[in-house]
Order: sequence, then structure tokens, then C-alpha cells
Amino acid sequence: MKNLVILISGRGSNMEAIVRSCVAEQWPARVVAVVSNRPDAAGLKFAADHGIATAVVEHRAFASRELFDAELARVVEGFAPDLVVLAGFMRVLGPAFVRRFEGRMLNIHPSLLPLFPGLHTHQRAIDAGCKLAGATVHFVTPELDHGPIVMQSVVPLRPGDDAQALSQRVLATEHVIYPRAVRWFVQGALRVDGGVVTHTGGEPQLLL
Ligand code: GRF
Repeated sequence: MKNLVILISGRGSNMEAIVRSCVAEQWPARVVAVVSNRPDAAGLKFAADHGIATAVVEHRAFASRELFDAELARVVEGFAPDLVVLAGFMRVLGPAFVRRFEGRMLNIHPSLLPLFPGLHTHQRAIDAGCKLAGATVHFVTPELDHGPIVMQSVVPLRPGDDAQALSQRVLATEHVIYPRAVRWFVQGALRVDGGVVTHTGGEPQLLL
């Protein structure tokens, strides 16, 4: 059994999708903990209700990013993770934290990376007149919202879309691709070669 630790900051709908898939599809894994940097993260309740350990490491309580990262790493390591899953975790993690978990930490970002790293991705896609948007699951590297791409989803941008409408359409695909990517990791089906991720069984890494 592989241990999964999921980091959230808010709603936690991706975390929920992963927890549900893990149980329903009987992955050789379990979500051992959900950790938040915000005590009011709604997702903590879902985790607790499902018998998953929860922890809060409040970034505001630390004088520097390095001190916060060090405490977060200590707490996360305490759950002996095989994989750390960033699911709407809204703090930038420093290089020391990232290196410690490199190769065993995934993130989801609501854009077709390498386009639109950072915040306000949906509005930026609309403002740029993009005809396509989507989401990306990637291994985490020290550069924000970069790193080897495991899977992407693509959704059309429709005339008249606002950021809210687009984000809902993208989020629905996040709930499909993130559990799938985590399952592939758990199954040992991902190979990373020169920054490019392939599924060893040839599964499609694109959801259209
Ligand atoms: C998602 O859109 C995710 O891609 C982004 O933040 C949002 C988190 O939503 N990083 P949730 O907390 O998983 O519901």
C-alpha cells in the first residue's frame, strides 16, 4: 500500500475526487492525511468525516517561508508519504521543500501549461482570446507551475465565457485527470525521461 498525503488550502474538491477514486477503484494506496495551511479550509471536514487524519500548518504563524516550509515538511514526513499531492494548495513551496519531495510530488494547475502559470489563469486565457483552455497535472519542480507533464485536459473556450463559467468547465475535467494521474503513479506506470512523462502502458495522457 502506498501512502498518499494531500495538501489543500480551501474547498478540496480535487482531494475529494482522489479520495473517492482511491476507494472506489481499490487502488493499492490510501490517503493517510490531508494537510492544510488554512484552518478554515472546507476540505478538512470531508477528510475528517472520511476517517482521514488532518493537520493544519498555518503559514501566518511563521516568520519566513523557510520556517513554514520546514514545519510543513516535518508534518508531511510524519505521515511517511510515497506521494505528496498538491490539490489547490495555494502557497508557493521553496526549493528545499520541493527537492525533498521531488519525483514524488504532483500538482494540478488550471491551465494548459506552460501557458499561464500563476494566478488568474482563466481570465488570462479569456483576455488572450484563447480558443482552448484546460488543466495540467505535473510533477513539481522548484520553478512555479512547471515540471514534467503527466496529463492534460482540454476544454473549448466559448464566446461569452467568463472566468467563473470557464473555471467550472475546467474543474470538471480536473476531477477526471487528477485521480487518474495519481493512480498511474501509485501503479508505478509513469516514466520520466528528460523531463517528459510517458505512461508505460500507453494510456492516453490527454483528455479531450
Ligand atoms: C483547482 O482549480 C486547482 O487546479 C487549482 O486550485 C483549484 C482548487 O480547487 N490549483 P479544489 O480546492 O480542489 O476544489
